[in-house]
Amino acid sequence: MPRLLHIQSSPNLGNSITRALSTKFVETWTANHANVDVEVLDLAVDPLPHFGADILQAGANPPEGWTPETQAAVALSDRLITQLEAADIVVIAAPMINFTICTQLKAWFDHVTIVGRTFQYSAPGVAKGLLFGKKVFVIEARGGDYADLPFSGFDFQEPLLRMLLMFLGLFDVSFIRAEGVRQRVDEAPDIIRNAEAVVARLAA
Ligand SMILES: Cc1cc2nc3c(=O)[nH]c(=O)nc-3n(C[C@H](O)[C@H](O)[C@H](O)COP(=O)(O)O)c2cc1C
Repeated sequence: MPRLLHIQSSPNLGNSITRALSTKFVETWTANHANVDVEVLDLAVDPLPHFGADILQAGANPPEGWTPETQAAVALSDRLITQLEAADIVVIAAPMINFTICTQLKAWFDHVTIVGRTFQYSAPGVAKGLLFGKKVFVIEARGGDYADLPFSGFDFQEPLLRMLLMFLGLFDVSFIRAEGVRQRVDEAPDIIRNAEAVVARLAA
């Protein structure tokens, strides 16, 4: 049975655009694909701790020397990686906050980007992703427009997501954008309608 991991990250639990669009995506996908097992990971409702000192200690010490805090931090990272490894389709809802991904989503990437588990070095400075064979759909919302210069130079969201996913070996990635929703307020309904049309097409 194919597994779909739906990652929500918007701290807006009310009228979030990425929450609505990604939910629509998952509903459309499951209506069009048989027997999909959906798992939702909501990083705003159940926030992860920062990637911090406890987990860094794991790399510096043998497991028998790990503190209970380090053991718990490693267990959390293992659980998130196992969940990601098990997924065939990954749907990531990614709001832009301060020109990049939100802190909730960044924490998740930090916990799943682990040397020896999701990537490895084959030579100094040469990394290879260890995840493969997954389809990834990233649903972004941003208040401004970043399609063209000079503002595209301030988009630290999509290039970062592309790089983080590629680093893990995930190359089959589609981006769906609702952008300019706060800059072109009058056009926001059309912007969302257009993004919904892309969702409907890609999830069909
Ligand atoms: C704290 C905060 C910071 C934001 N920073 C940016 C930003 O740097 N650039 C931008 O284009 N939009 C920014 N926005 C607008 C959001 O990207 C926009 O509201 C988007 O719809 C958020 O996704 P969501 O609706 O799924 O929460 C920001 C919004 C908030 C609440």
